[in-house]
Amino acid sequence: MSADAAPSVAPVPLRWGIVSTGHIAGVFARSMAGSRLGRLVGVGSRTAASARTFASAWGLAPAHTHGTLAGLLADPEIDAVYVATPHPMHCEVVVAALAAGKHVLCEKPMAMSLADVEQMQQAARAGGRTLMEAWMYRCHPQTERVEALVAEGAIGRLRHIQGAFSFHAAFDPAGRLWDRALGGGGILDVGGYPLSYARRLAGVALGRAFADPTALHAVGVLHPETGADTQASAVLQFDGGITAEVSCGTWVTQQNRVRLYGSEGRIEIPSPFVVSREVEPTEIWWQREGQAEPTAITITPDRGIYAYEADAFAAAVHAGHLEVPACGWADTRGNIAAQLEWCRQVGVHYA
Ligand SMILES: NC(=O)c1ccc[n+]([C@@H]2O[C@H](COP(=O)([O-])OP(=O)(O)OC[C@H]3O[C@@H](n4cnc5c(N)ncnc54)[C@H](OP(=O)(O)O)[C@@H]3O)[C@@H](O)[C@H]2O)c1
Repeated sequence: MSADAAPSVAPVPLRWGIVSTGHIAGVFARSMAGSRLGRLVGVGSRTAASARTFASAWGLAPAHTHGTLAGLLADPEIDAVYVATPHPMHCEVVVAALAAGKHVLCEKPMAMSLADVEQMQQAARAGGRTLMEAWMYRCHPQTERVEALVAEGAIGRLRHIQGAFSFHAAFDPAGRLWDRALGGGGILDVGGYPLSYARRLAGVALGRAFADPTALHAVGVLHPETGADTQASAVLQFDGGITAEVSCGTWVTQQNRVRLYGSEGRIEIPSPFVVSREVEPTEIWWQREGQAEPTAITITPDRGIYAYEADAFAAAVHAGHLEVPACGWADTRGNIAAQLEWCRQVGVHYA
């Protein structure tokens, strides 16, 4: 072997711990089986019993099964944590994890205020640790393909974006979706998906990683008992003559799609956000102006969406980067600022 042909060395897998044992914690754990750059090692819950149940479901060793957050953060065999608590707890957990020397992938929305986001990013900067807001769809090859189509002018100049993410949930006044003390409301739960998608694609069309809206006008409906938003819509304007309409809700079923309209055609993404939690093909529909039927572009993933996210994060850690290209820190600040402005206009307030 010549001196400059160094043998390739596989990166050491990033050792993950999950903070919480709730819904998305289990989904992430399941997807980690497909990760190429990391492996799930531990869990930290508020109770030992819940940690044990989770650990037994996902084959985690007792030494890495912690009934407290402090226990997980003190575990020397955990490199990175995935924070999957309700949003109002993100800041405190993330800052503690960064102080303990862990890299942090934090569920969306990263925090309930811009001041908290800045505190979290400052803690990551000070500790030299990677931090990312968990927009998993940005790490999936389907989104990369959509971005490439827009960047190469497949629909001419991007003019307008439409996106929605809503679902109908049973009312539970003490539940995470409804209780504002737990961050309840559709804008913070799912509104961030079409909003961050629009910000990303407007940015791509402008040759940037993201774009912040120059104007945002919103309407919405609040739950009469808890004051959490049950449905909300916003129209946005970006530089370059790009506009967007985004909608969300926790009490309404919509078509959870994104449509991109350009000067010379359109792209429809039938499953833009969660894409698929399994490893199965997905489709984008691309139609040039004058073309009778859209062309279906099939994307065949080789791992689950949360494994793509974990691997994008691990690649940044291995490269020594504090930010992950899928969602950099200024992008997160813009996501939070736009969501909070949407909330403010609709009349949703958080303590
Ligand atoms: N990326 C995605 O696809 C996706 C999907 C759904 C949700 N999310 C985000 O993930 C986060 C969690 O959502 P989820 O649906 O998984 O929520 P969830 O099912 O209610 O689980 C939240 C977990 O957080 C822990 N926790 C810590 N402090 C808590 C408190 N004061 N009250 C309640 N739970 C507390 C609990 O685990 P322990 O009892 O073990 O401590 C609980 O099981 C949210 O920020 C949400 O926006 C992301």
